[in-house]
Amino acid sequence: MTDRAVAAAKLDQLMARGRDFLGCRYALLGGAMSWVSERNLVAALSNAGAFGVIACGAMDPQRLAAEIAGTQALTTKPFGVNLITMHPQLLELVQVCLEAKVTHIVFAGGIPPGPAIKAAKEGGARVICFTPALSLGKKLVRSGADALVIEGSEAGGHIGPVSLNVLAQEILPHLRDVPIFVAGGIGRGEAILAYLEMGAAGAQLGTRFVTATECIAHARFKQAFIRGNARDAVPTMQIDERFPVIPVRALVNEGTKRFMAHQAAVLQKFQSGELSREAAQLDIEHFWAGALRRAVIDGDVDGGSVMAGQSVGMVTREAPAAEIVAELIDQAVAALMSRDA
Ligand SMILES: Cc1cc2nc3c(=O)[nH]c(=O)nc-3n(C[C@H](O)[C@H](O)[C@H](O)COP(=O)(O)O)c2cc1C
Repeated sequence: MTDRAVAAAKLDQLMARGRDFLGCRYALLGGAMSWVSERNLVAALSNAGAFGVIACGAMDPQRLAAEIAGTQALTTKPFGVNLITMHPQLLELVQVCLEAKVTHIVFAGGIPPGPAIKAAKEGGARVICFTPALSLGKKLVRSGADALVIEGSEAGGHIGPVSLNVLAQEILPHLRDVPIFVAGGIGRGEAILAYLEMGAAGAQLGTRFVTATECIAHARFKQAFIRGNARDAVPTMQIDERFPVIPVRALVNEGTKRFMAHQAAVLQKFQSGELSREAAQLDIEHFWAGALRRAVIDGDVDGGSVMAGQSVGMVTREAPAAEIVAELIDQAVAALMSRDA
């Protein structure tokens, strides 16, 4: 049995690269979640020693500036901002982050344009990008990414096709130039420890932080997470290959059922000539517009989009962010302690 202090020091050492990169106590990123990751949750995570990240989503520059200022009023610790690359005002949003002295910018939702990476770095921020594959990861590093996130299909929200288990094996042994954070389906400290030992610099969790006391999500949204099991968190399904649907992992509800019926109805209209292919595709894409907000803010967990990772089964209660972070760290330390010295 390893001594607790020895185990804690070992975990600290495994987290050193990620922690130094982020400038916080634990190499744990609070994955940005649209509508959920606003000032309260972000500041609570950073105050707890993790690294909170604001989800900019569709916010305009003014709104983002206010959110950053609001977060800075609640914490003196570093935090990041997650920007969606297809936002039409991406460069202005980068500027807002730089003016507010945000230390880390996370580019999500696609390959970030070169000028955005350049502007962020020249302005003194560190750039974090997502990579779905080793080759693209290497390219992003050459383009200036200071760190990468590999997010497996177990994650909540928009997902790629490959699990974290496989991505970690494909990428971690081969890309050592920058810190790599793992995400998707992580709910316990033992898993964080395992990925650190495989070479990850740290982990990014979303779902586990939704039920933080400080999180402003509607009580019904949090309840859905507490009740949900891994098998309830499934990707949106596409019924016809001509009309692609971007997979989003969310809890099954009336909305997901209606989406299937909606696709079938649109398909029929397309086949009868009532809708053009473009109009049909747009119709399908628009189905979920505003659905995450309805679930998170209004508490419409039946019709809205209750985006959640497979880790949802490990969400059992509402608790302060600091308690959730401490629990994850304790689990990793306990796993190290249970080994022979
Ligand atoms: C409700 C919800 C909203 C999300 N919104 C975003 C987002 O706006 N931008 C982003 O990069 N990732 C988003 N994600 C993904 C998280 O940042 C994170 O990578 C993911 O939750 C990790 O998997 P886990 O949920 O199993 O921990 C979202 C996830 C959830 C559950």
